[in-house]
Amino acid sequence: MIHINNTSTYHKEQITTLGWELTVCNMLYPENSPCREVIKKNAPYGTLLCEFLSSFIDMKQVKTILEAGGGYGFLMKDFLACCPHVQAIMVDISPAMLAEQKKNIRGNVSFIHSDFLELDNALLSDIDLIICNEIIGDFITVCDITHDILESFALDEIKECKRLINEYNLEIKANPFNFNLGALLAIEKICKAGTKYIYISEHSCESESQGEFRECVPVRPTFNPYEIRLFGHSEYTIRFSHLEAVAKKWGYTIHRGVYNDIFGCRMTPKLQFILNSTASAKDEYEILRQFIGDMFTYEYVVCCK
Ligand SMILES: C[S@@+](CC[C@H](N)C(=O)[O-])C[C@H]1O[C@@H](n2cnc3c(N)ncnc32)[C@H](O)[C@@H]1O
Repeated sequence: MIHINNTSTYHKEQITTLGWELTVCNMLYPENSPCREVIKKNAPYGTLLCEFLSSFIDMKQVKTILEAGGGYGFLMKDFLACCPHVQAIMVDISPAMLAEQKKNIRGNVSFIHSDFLELDNALLSDIDLIICNEIIGDFITVCDITHDILESFALDEIKECKRLINEYNLEIKANPFNFNLGALLAIEKICKAGTKYIYISEHSCESESQGEFRECVPVRPTFNPYEIRLFGHSEYTIRFSHLEAVAKKWGYTIHRGVYNDIFGCRMTPKLQFILNSTASAKDEYEILRQFIGDMFTYEYVVCCK
């Protein structure tokens, strides 16, 4: 039987801390984080993302950035330090997360309390760059859809899944399958508004560890979004090829890859030892194992118009 994974009540009413879900941005934030030692340059996420996006986007032309689901606001804090001319807008469904962002981000920034999917489209059309970092896995996922259900169910969510599958010719490999309805509606919303640049990153169900990390980091694609159980809620991994199909149809050029393209981890004898050992002798080793796994579990897309 189908079920719908919806995290909005958790985020509106219950979340008080992100401590339970260690995002890559938060792992890299402390200056003494062990993760900083294995990336290409000792810097936080916002700085590295700004440098990475500069290879696709002329950042001088970016005057307004909207970040949806900014958590503690660390990404935007460091992004603004690199691009002080930018006006930032933070949108979050959680009053608790917005309060954290207000503490951490200074300068030309405003805050909107809203579900991203309910945001006025007119606002989006005035934005040059939209950033959705580790948020779209929280949007609605419709789970356990069979081909029969897709054809016969009158539920609005199922009708929307069917519309998106047909309109964007989305490939479905499993039966039953899970469908990232909210994530696809979000990218469709941004594309319709005509925002020039989009950056989205999240856990992927299509990613794969690569190069010197392939043997000791067992990340392989499943092609069906799977559940990640977290404190008080679950999120689902994303089929990035579906996001890509939507943005392509709206005329965007897509750059897609895994987090390690941004952070540039290289194998060292110490890392090899940590990744190959079955038990973690130290907290630092456990953190690094998770971090290196994340380098290949997370994908990003940069969409340019
Ligand atoms: C996993 S956290 C990621 C935080 C941050 N981007 C990071 O990488 O550290 C997800 C964030 O998205 C927000 N969020 C979840 N669902 C949302 C929605 N429908 N609309 C706006 N914000 C949402 C949460 O409140 C939280 O701030």
